Amino acid sequence: MTACTSVVGLQWGDEAKGKIVDLLTPDHDLVVRYNGGPNAGHTVVCNGKSFKLSLIPTGILRPKVQAVIGNGVVVYPPRFLDECDGLRANGIEVGSNLLLSDRAHVILPYHLEEEALRESAEGRSIGTTGRGIGPCYQDKAGRHLAIRVGELLDADHLRHRLREIVPIKNRLLTALSPQAKTFDPDRLADEYIALGQALRPHVTDTVRLLHDAYAKGRRILFEAAQGTLLDVDHGTFPYVTSSNSSTTGIWSGCGFPARRLTRIVGVIKAYSTRVGQGPFPTELHDEIGEHIRQTGREYGTVTGRPRRCGWFDAVAVKHAVMVSGADELAIMLLDVLSELDEIRICVAYEYDGRQIEHFPAFAHQLEKCKPIYETLPGWKRDISGCRTLAELPAQARRYLDRLSAILGLPISIVSIGPDREQTIFCGCCD
Ligand code: IMP
Repeated sequence: MTACTSVVGLQWGDEAKGKIVDLLTPDHDLVVRYNGGPNAGHTVVCNGKSFKLSLIPTGILRPKVQAVIGNGVVVYPPRFLDECDGLRANGIEVGSNLLLSDRAHVILPYHLEEEALRESAEGRSIGTTGRGIGPCYQDKAGRHLAIRVGELLDADHLRHRLREIVPIKNRLLTALSPQAKTFDPDRLADEYIALGQALRPHVTDTVRLLHDAYAKGRRILFEAAQGTLLDVDHGTFPYVTSSNSSTTGIWSGCGFPARRLTRIVGVIKAYSTRVGQGPFPTELHDEIGEHIRQTGREYGTVTGRPRRCGWFDAVAVKHAVMVSGADELAIMLLDVLSELDEIRICVAYEYDGRQIEHFPAFAHQLEKCKPIYETLPGWKRDISGCRTLAELPAQARRYLDRLSAILGLPISIVSIGPDREQTIFCGCCD
């Protein structure tokens, strides 16, 4: 059977999926993004250089790999082109090895303005990345005001569409705030027609491309952005992103049947983090939380915001395992916990005076959940040089065994540092 692998985050994003995608890419011919947009931040260390990618799949860093951005992604063309330039400046080839779906939706400057106004208005703030993601997906679902990548290639059509859309957007923006920035349809059309020409060599029908590749036996890796707990349907709604960041997004976001997946690698950190607002039962507001933040360099790749840090939440991750159908686990950043005396795993919640083991559907319920912990001894030793499970201290192995037992999945990869070499392959899922 042709290998079709999914690498998906099982927490609130930032699980270091980029490293796992980078490690698994040599076994694949295509690497495909299917959700999100420039809100994602993937850091990969390659040949001593650190690459920060936001829209472009990390597979681009490996020669001979076809990188694909599927229809489920929302694209901000200036960002896409900047990333291409940054890669080329670092000697990475970017040409027909990077393809972009003609059906992907386009983020326009008015999306960024709308998001800024909504986030600063009274009422609920999500704590978004400010990249126009929500308003763009909103237009996609609303249909009347949306523009897709393929439309950027037809100058007359695009100008006509923007002359229809922009006055409506301007009215909506000024209704949100009289001080709102407004836009000139023709200037925007000139700008986006030029951007369309720059994108043209990359734009194609990626649905056909993926199916042709599959028919030829080429191996495909699907790279998720964000994590399952930020999925618009299955995450901590409304404190989520606007796309399906679980594996559920693959089918709709690529037009590729998820039933063809042969391997689903669920990526988790050895602890929890989240950025932005929203419930986080195991969040630590003490010196341990600060220690994890500093040791794990837990600051957002895209926004630089300090990430909220806490203990591993097995209740939340079990929900994510279920939704994303993970077969195996990659455990990241285990080394960050090395100096701690003891380590905790949340195994249940106390809610409304009783113990629950399921993940509540509503944010206001999760806000009231108190974690019930199992406590394990720390290992108090630097593990960043370990290369086999046997080299890990017994306490670290015990922690991994507990995570595996509680989540009911084998651990295939353990990461103990940012470099490719700082990885233990456990041999369970080869
Ligand atoms: P948006 O995706 O910019 O709309 O933000 C919605 C929520 O998802 C906010 O809490 C963001 O902080 C969070 N978010 C979006 N992208 C990422 C990511 O790549 N990593 C972690 N959190 C993210």
